[in-house]
Amino acid sequence: MAKASSKFYCKECGYESAKWMGQCPSCRAWNSFVEEPVLSASKVAGFGGKKASGSGRPPRQRPVKIDEVKLEQEDRMPTGFRELDRVLGGGIVVGSLVLLGGDPGIGKSTILLEVSRNLAAESNKKVLYISGEESLKQIRMRANRITEITGDISFMAETNIENIIETIEEEKPDFVVVDSIQTMYTETVTAAPGSVSQVRESASQLLRVAKENGIAIFLVGHVTKDGTVAGPKVLEHMVDVVLYFEGDNGGTLRILHGQKNRFGSTNEIAVFEMTGDGLREVLNPSELLLNGRPLHASGSVVTCGMEGTRPLLIEIQGLLVPSAFNLPRRTANGIDYNRLNMLIAIIEKRLNLNIGKYDAYVNITGGLRIAEPSMDLGIVLSLVSSYMDIEIPDDVMVFGEVGLSGEIRAVSNAEQRVEEASRLGFDRIMMPAFHAGRIDARNLKDVQILSVRTLKEAMAVLRK
Ligand code: TYD
Ligand code: MG
Repeated sequence: MAKASSKFYCKECGYESAKWMGQCPSCRAWNSFVEEPVLSASKVAGFGGKKASGSGRPPRQRPVKIDEVKLEQEDRMPTGFRELDRVLGGGIVVGSLVLLGGDPGIGKSTILLEVSRNLAAESNKKVLYISGEESLKQIRMRANRITEITGDISFMAETNIENIIETIEEEKPDFVVVDSIQTMYTETVTAAPGSVSQVRESASQLLRVAKENGIAIFLVGHVTKDGTVAGPKVLEHMVDVVLYFEGDNGGTLRILHGQKNRFGSTNEIAVFEMTGDGLREVLNPSELLLNGRPLHASGSVVTCGMEGTRPLLIEIQGLLVPSAFNLPRRTANGIDYNRLNMLIAIIEKRLNLNIGKYDAYVNITGGLRIAEPSMDLGIVLSLVSSYMDIEIPDDVMVFGEVGLSGEIRAVSNAEQRVEEASRLGFDRIMMPAFHAGRIDARNLKDVQILSVRTLKEAMAVLRK
């Protein structure tokens, strides 16, 4: 009897091996190999070629000059969400394959249903929403919560890729949602849905349909414990855009950001709020992030971080309390832990404050993570304010990098940060002296600029 042929695949990167290994030689992940039936090459449909049928290899392509490549007039579709359009680089590109990852319950199905509705109702697009996770009834219930669904939009509860592709080729929609790629299976592979080879094969067949027919396809992808899309890394290589949907624990704020984008920048984020009737985009996140800020409390300071091209005003909260242990606790929420340690050392040495024996907690409200040196000054001031129990006035916004000698250094995008603060009504802005002289103050009549060179100078804001 012929031996059933199977191989071992790395769950992380898709590396193939004839035998099991403890560590993947390609991506160095431990214990990541799973045994799965081998793909037979004749059955695998690759991108660019036709479905491998009896006729053998696909027709040969002719090389062309770059200016012979025709660009379609309308090759981007607006999603109806300005924020999402910006993350995508200006709308959904026709013929693109987009992967949307995120924790369960974060709102992936909800946002894609809303995008489907917008495309059908506002842009007259033909939309096909395929769910492998929910029954048509469940989708209907969700749709009822959002708003009325109008336009050319159809739903299908299906997990078989061959059926899906037949339907897509017959119906020729403009936009397809596949929710989720881990529930889909193709007959060319005998492994179970969600396995490395199934996910890879299913995605590559959808990729072919997207490119050949100029259809934009969104795939929903589950994420693993450590927050990456489950299934092989090759999935991320295959698609044009990888988006992640994240939220603060228990809160209603949702942040969508690009991890990879062949059509735009990956620096942009979009902020949404989950409400009782669907997701709303938040056009003015600074206002939302500062909402509910404690006034007249020590340890709280407002600073401005950049997410892509957008300035975001955020509140940093610091807390210092005498430690009960020899080794004090340090907790950094939303900022880099090592950076916090460095800043505490700088405070000790340059401001002569003996805070090494204190437990230190720093928190960025709103569940954001910002790794930017411009936050340094805010972090230091929040800690010192907590230590001395002196509040930082509510009308002050601060930003700047802090160097090891306690000097305040220049950062990028100073002008935009100042504008954002002045827009939201801050009266005084503390910034590195470098920028103070260069800021165009013509549009900022009511704003007072506090220029600082060193941490010692910055302490002035704490004195009344
Ligand atoms: P869902 O889109 O099903 O998440 P995912 O597809 O990422 O798993 O979102 C489900 C959550 O969103 C659920 O906890 C309920 C909540 N929700 C609302 O708060 N308001 C709404 O209008 C909808 C549709 C869902
Ligand atoms: Mg879902």
